[in-house]
Amino acid sequence: MAHAETDKVKFAYWVPNVSGGLVISNIEQRTSHSAEYNRKLAQVAEKAGFDYALSQIRFTAGYGADEQHESVAFSHDLLAATTTLKVIAAILPGPWNPALAAKQIATISYLTNGRVAINLVSGWFRGEFHAIGEHWLDHDERYRRSEEFIRALRGIWTEDSFTFRGDFYRFNEYSLKPKPPLVPEIFQGGSSRAARDMASRVSDWYFTNGNTPTEIGKQVDDLRTKAKANHHSVKVGVNAFAIVRETEDEAKAVLAEIIAKANPEAVNAFGHEVKNAGKASPEGEGNWAKSSFDDLVQYNDGFRSNLIGTPRQVAERIVDLKRAGADLILLGFLHFQEEVEYFGKHVIPLVRELENVEPAASLAAE
Ligand SMILES: Cc1cc2nc3c(=O)[nH]c(=O)nc-3n(C[C@H](O)[C@H](O)[C@H](O)COP(=O)(O)O)c2cc1C
Repeated sequence: MAHAETDKVKFAYWVPNVSGGLVISNIEQRTSHSAEYNRKLAQVAEKAGFDYALSQIRFTAGYGADEQHESVAFSHDLLAATTTLKVIAAILPGPWNPALAAKQIATISYLTNGRVAINLVSGWFRGEFHAIGEHWLDHDERYRRSEEFIRALRGIWTEDSFTFRGDFYRFNEYSLKPKPPLVPEIFQGGSSRAARDMASRVSDWYFTNGNTPTEIGKQVDDLRTKAKANHHSVKVGVNAFAIVRETEDEAKAVLAEIIAKANPEAVNAFGHEVKNAGKASPEGEGNWAKSSFDDLVQYNDGFRSNLIGTPRQVAERIVDLKRAGADLILLGFLHFQEEVEYFGKHVIPLVRELENVEPAASLAAE
């Protein structure tokens, strides 16, 4: 069993700070990427019982997300609008270097009572790097750079006279002052072997694309075995696109409509770009390596986690994902404000109930 039963599964939502919502579809979406919409959403989410919000970093997009607000600045705005929610800002090595990121995030941590975290994104979108004049590294080199980035961040945040000799970054007796009041948590995205190797050495959290409990379980086993050998501990966040309705038929009809109204050009453009991600890894495995057209309609395979049904069905599947090793469920929605509120009212309390009965059920199963 991957968990102490008392650990409650945590909830995060994707901040819609890019246009077009979280699905590449022309279905009506009442989600907006405006500041006003997002501030209200963050307030609704913290009231609804969400622990984290994850914002996205994107400099350009060829698949529908035509406008993109910058992640760190946007995250700070959401932190200023809330009191308990933690906001995860995405950082992309290349445009950012660790000196700037460490200082920027330390200041936001100071301003917000330690509520900022980061998602270190290794990069998958070659066209984006080309557009902004950044060097494009091979798959595993991107992770080697990210690992140095994370080691540098931790060193700067926790040590004085920090000295580091990497292939990508160097520091010489550097002392950041003031240090952040809390060492910010470091999340990372990616599902390839290289992503897991890195997470098992340096990250606090491993974020992976949506998948079934069985497939998530395989990743978790590999990750935790490697982490144990490294005397490191890492938690797991799983992506899902939630469609929760009073009946299963209604929820399934919404999914069918999202897919029927998918924008094929934009989905195919996205599918074309993601060949630079996990598929390009030496093992040919990782995010999007096995994604179908329907899967790609949601950026991070969120339909595969199957949180599509009634509140009870969805709560049961969340507990199944937890049993497979998920510590956190990251959620996207069609109409964020309304659905986050509904999720908080109808799904989270059921998850808490099911988590409470879990020990007896799992003992019986063993
Ligand atoms: C939950 C999650 C969030 C991500 N957020 C971003 C993002 O904001 N910007 C971005 O360019 N890539 C993002 N990524 C992409 C990853 O950082 C990574 O480049 C990609 O998943 C390919 O990794 P892989 O080859 O190891 O599977 C995200 C991935 C996941 C799973």
